[in-house]
Amino acid sequence: MVERPLRILGIPGSLRRQSYNRGLLLAAQELAPPGVTIELYELHELPLYNQDLEEAGPPAPVQHFKRAIAEADALLIATPEYNWSVPGPLKNAIDWASRPPATSPLRRKPVAIMGATTGLFGTVRGQLALRQVFLSTESYVLPKPDVLVRDAASLFRDGRLVDEPTRQMIRQLLEALVAWTLRFRDDGR
Ligand SMILES: Cc1cc2nc3c(=O)[nH]c(=O)nc-3n(C[C@H](O)[C@H](O)[C@H](O)COP(=O)(O)O)c2cc1C
Repeated sequence: MVERPLRILGIPGSLRRQSYNRGLLLAAQELAPPGVTIELYELHELPLYNQDLEEAGPPAPVQHFKRAIAEADALLIATPEYNWSVPGPLKNAIDWASRPPATSPLRRKPVAIMGATTGLFGTVRGQLALRQVFLSTESYVLPKPDVLVRDAASLFRDGRLVDEPTRQMIRQLLEALVAWTLRFRDDGR
């Protein structure tokens, strides 16, 4: 139980309606410890990053996204890897939120990452690439535990994550993210 409610913004790195990664976040909502809420943020509305748009005043969906990040205590990202790296929509969203760097809501923001793939390697390459991006934004990415979900199709029934070992991994990630976030919450952000 945390003393003050803790707000986590869950971001799926996939736009797909039946996304397994969104499924991981829905499971995280079910498994959140008392005092922790997880709200999902979809990336569909964000335009492609364009510095001309930024300089003209960021479009409303961008402003909304940045505000949602700023108001959250932490981010929880669940993403596939595309071609061994970060899916375009997610990278695009991070690029928007990273601007301008001095006031970016990503600075010093605690972040946890998990990922599901229908393939064999559990998004390990994509997660490493994402960690590199968050070095640039000065975000505080939780180092462990890894949640690397392979062969995702076999772990879901009717869109719900039913595999108990995977649910347990998510529970452990959430516990670690809560402890990690509380370390940083009062550091003067
Ligand atoms: C463009 C594209 C590239 C992909 N590249 C990879 C990859 O590099 N590694 C991998 O394990 N799976 C890859 N996949 C398969 C995805 O892991 C799989 O489609 C997964 O279900 C997508 O996540 P989602 O269910 O959250 O949409 C790729 C899929 C697409 C559409």
